[in-house]
Amino acid sequence: MVWEPTAYLAYNDERSLPTRDLINAVRTTRPSSIVDLGCGTGNSTALLREQWPDADLTGVDSSFEMLEQARRSPIDARWETADIEDWTPSSPVDLIFSNAALHWLNHHEELLPRLAALLSHDGALAIQMPSNFHRPSHTAIIEVASRVRWKSKLERLLRPQPVSPPERYLDILGEHVRQIRVWTTTYVHVLHGEHAVANWTGGATLRPILGALGDEGADFLAEYQTMLSEAYPRRDDGTTLFDFTRLFIVASNRVS
Ligand SMILES: C[S@@+](CC[C@H](N)C(=O)[O-])C[C@H]1O[C@@H](n2cnc3c(N)ncnc32)[C@H](O)[C@@H]1O
Repeated sequence: MVWEPTAYLAYNDERSLPTRDLINAVRTTRPSSIVDLGCGTGNSTALLREQWPDADLTGVDSSFEMLEQARRSPIDARWETADIEDWTPSSPVDLIFSNAALHWLNHHEELLPRLAALLSHDGALAIQMPSNFHRPSHTAIIEVASRVRWKSKLERLLRPQPVSPPERYLDILGEHVRQIRVWTTTYVHVLHGEHAVANWTGGATLRPILGALGDEGADFLAEYQTMLSEAYPRRDDGTTLFDFTRLFIVASNRVS
């Protein structure tokens, strides 16, 4: 799958809000080593560096394009190309942080305990994933992709529910850590410009679909935009409200 850093960064301010909220939730910890799993262009890594100026910081990602952009940034961090699925650090990590990345991977019931096992004695695992797959921004993708014209090309790419309900993560991780907190937050983003919600998903969720369709992607987008303009009408002042729920997990070996 090919990422387009520029499209992803179009809503950088809005996308950074949950990153900041996740950092806030673990800011009382004093990690010596931090790994940003699925670091992308390094935006989340930069915020981690801001919070912990002295920590040993590594950004891990599998995308050439995203890491290329991250490496161009002035952040003091190491960048590692790896698939999170089988990434293993050389020594236990104090803070494994992952913002908006783990929903791209399957089998959370195996993946998350594996990550928890890579933590140091009082280490913490901090995760944020979208939990918006029941809203029109995401259901419209499934709906359009299931139409006759697209079905055979796109069926294999569809992942209607990549993230489980919040309480499921208590079961998945509960017995592997000493403390766990799970919560959701709904952000109401005020977006500007035409087809704002489609532009947002075009920078992330839609990437595999647009990549698979090539030149036909424009036709797919037009059908998708029509559905979204009903679900997310543009307001008189030109803005569009986009409500987006995100799931947060902080699992820790430390007892506070
Ligand atoms: C939406 S971006 C988030 C980037 C960054 N964490 C942020 O908050 O801006 C998701 C990133 O996860 C990466 N990713 C997805 N699946 C991955 C995998 N299996 N292994 C490594 N990175 C992965 C993608 O390449 C992409 O850069």
